[in-house]
Amino acid sequence: MRLRRPLSMQLGIDLGTSAVKVVACRNRRIIATSSAALSTDSPKPGWSEQDPSRWLDALLAATRRLLSAPEVDGAEIDCIGLSGQMHGAVLLDREGSVLRPCILWNDNRSHDDCTELSRRVPRIGQLAGVPPLPGFTAPKLMWVARNEPEIHARIAHVLLPKDFLGLLLHGNFVTDSSDAAGTLWLDQRARRWSGELCQASATRTEWLPTILDGNNVAGSLRPGPAKSLGLKPNIPIVAGGGDAATGAVAVGATEAGRGFISLGTSGQLFVATGDYVPNPERYVHAFAHTVPERWYQMAAMLNGSRPLSWLSTILGCSVSDILERATAAEPDRVPLFLPYLTGERSPHGDPNIRGAFYGLEDSTDAAAVCRSVVEAIAFTFADAADSFGQQFGSVPHLFAIGGGARSALLLQLISDATGKTILKADNAEGGPALGAAILATLRETRTAKPVQPPEAAAQFNPQPSPAMIERLARFRSLYLSLKEIR
Ligand code: XUL
Repeated sequence: MRLRRPLSMQLGIDLGTSAVKVVACRNRRIIATSSAALSTDSPKPGWSEQDPSRWLDALLAATRRLLSAPEVDGAEIDCIGLSGQMHGAVLLDREGSVLRPCILWNDNRSHDDCTELSRRVPRIGQLAGVPPLPGFTAPKLMWVARNEPEIHARIAHVLLPKDFLGLLLHGNFVTDSSDAAGTLWLDQRARRWSGELCQASATRTEWLPTILDGNNVAGSLRPGPAKSLGLKPNIPIVAGGGDAATGAVAVGATEAGRGFISLGTSGQLFVATGDYVPNPERYVHAFAHTVPERWYQMAAMLNGSRPLSWLSTILGCSVSDILERATAAEPDRVPLFLPYLTGERSPHGDPNIRGAFYGLEDSTDAAAVCRSVVEAIAFTFADAADSFGQQFGSVPHLFAIGGGARSALLLQLISDATGKTILKADNAEGGPALGAAILATLRETRTAKPVQPPEAAAQFNPQPSPAMIERLARFRSLYLSLKEIR
């Protein structure tokens, strides 16, 4: 009798904004998941920072919990993939020590530096795939140079968040093309650091990590971290990807024309492309994919489905309660909500806009407020779809991933507002961490191999009502009216 070799297991790590999530996968299927929460500091309005040392603690806590699941044996895990929040700047000195808290993707402090960067490199949108906005990495370095010159003078390395975790695990200064893409230092078409962009933004190219494809091995797990994590030493760690690109890998959006939406702390409308197609006017990001020979277009919404957790906190109830109340609301008596709690990236490129309710009446109840928040999230996806222009028409459907994909009401409203069929992925919650684990299974494949899309657990077809179309038009007018008020 021939004994069957057990299938290998991969560990996918996603360094998110609100948690580090880990998944154990076998044959591209999630066997077990775990996470450990992260908090964000906002020392001044519009600032958003995290202490990178907390990331490792959270990774250790999440992995130990994962390995305690009966289905998972640490000894069977034979490779690791990394995913993470994009655009953050981890500044390190010559010894590799962290110089200051990481300035995150949703931090707004570098607005003036963005204006200056656009002035210095007028063609930046064509070269780097998107015009400067405060969330990106390059203007953060300009801000540090102006405001913290003593820290700037000590910089020897700049890493993206997941690559800093990578450094702690394997010891190498490495990134992947999709995370490099979100810095504004990458020449997207050539997929290499641009000396012109670095020079214009107080950055030396020698500070930046080596760029690999996401399925290339970045290094092997050092014995110290292996012991702390409960894993075998020396297993390969692939470079992985920014969370948008790894989310794409999880739903097979590596082939041109395949797309998805992500409903997490941030929101994304993502379509893979076979070429580099910049569309900077509407703040659609054209970035290098994590897989070779692929790029993508992405509308990135800073607020994603976060307004749901914001409302749940201030109303003192759960997100499920909010969704239940929203479903029961009378749609015609609902106020309009602008969900721009932290400004907005696509399609407005407006870090100063803030949230607002309009149309509150004496009779407005909590259910109506809940519905207006859910509807507003759907409307941001309508704006995102609109900013893609004609090319959006040929996208057959969109998979949905992220915590917000739990809500059938939200997915139906997004389908209605965008006119696209939305498929809820059967692995919707795993998203980026699963994509990172899949990249680990593809390690060292030379060309971009198509990744199979997952099964659809549910399908939502567009059935927009005339009332909704009218409300969407009013939502758009409301933004235009309020954007002048600061
Ligand atoms: C993408 C973006 C977010 C962050 C955090 O451009 O800013 O997706 O990566 O999730």
